[in-house]
Amino acid sequence: MSSLDSALRAEYKPSVSAVNQEATLAAKLQHQNETTSEPARSLSFQDLAEVLLAQQSVPSLPELERLVARTKISPHELHPYLGFKVGNYCRHRVVRNEFVEMLVLCWKPGQRTPIHDHNGSHGAVFVYEGILWETTFDYDAETGLAYKAHRELRDGGLTGSELPDIHQIGNPDVSGRDLITIHIYGPPLGVLKTYKLGSATIDLYTPADPDFL
Ligand SMILES: [Fe+2]
Repeated sequence: MSSLDSALRAEYKPSVSAVNQEATLAAKLQHQNETTSEPARSLSFQDLAEVLLAQQSVPSLPELERLVARTKISPHELHPYLGFKVGNYCRHRVVRNEFVEMLVLCWKPGQRTPIHDHNGSHGAVFVYEGILWETTFDYDAETGLAYKAHRELRDGGLTGSELPDIHQIGNPDVSGRDLITIHIYGPPLGVLKTYKLGSATIDLYTPADPDFL
């Protein structure tokens, strides 16, 4: 792991009491799931954040997707993490520990990521509001990067990126509306690899620091 990676991963240190409270909630949820045949209860956005902070290992992509599918997000819970700017999309960190990270991203029309992979992390992306376009690519060291597929996700849509997915996501300029997405990565993102269409060159890219930590 690079020193930058280590620094990024060590950045968040929850208090001991907070960890204990979160572990209790996670244990309750786990116990409930194991001892009843009823559907798991829904989570608030704050519950989701606490369950993620209580993780003791990197959650799998199906686990992340199940957690997001159970979460009902109220506008007032999300409000502190909303904010847009001209130029680049905004990243707002909700929680981060050694194993997992959750961010809220806010995109004006036309704002998008570079073509990138997640360099060892998998991730779930949930569209809270707006329209997200995702383009995926195939990489070949001889022939370079090639277009693979395109898809659109609208309000309430959920997608996951397994390894070694290469993609570009963003708010299409033709959407005419803002986009708000929720991203959960396990382990937290470090330095990413970026690609260019038709090229075999791979560059490194560090996502912008969150606008709110
Ligand atoms: Fe991504």
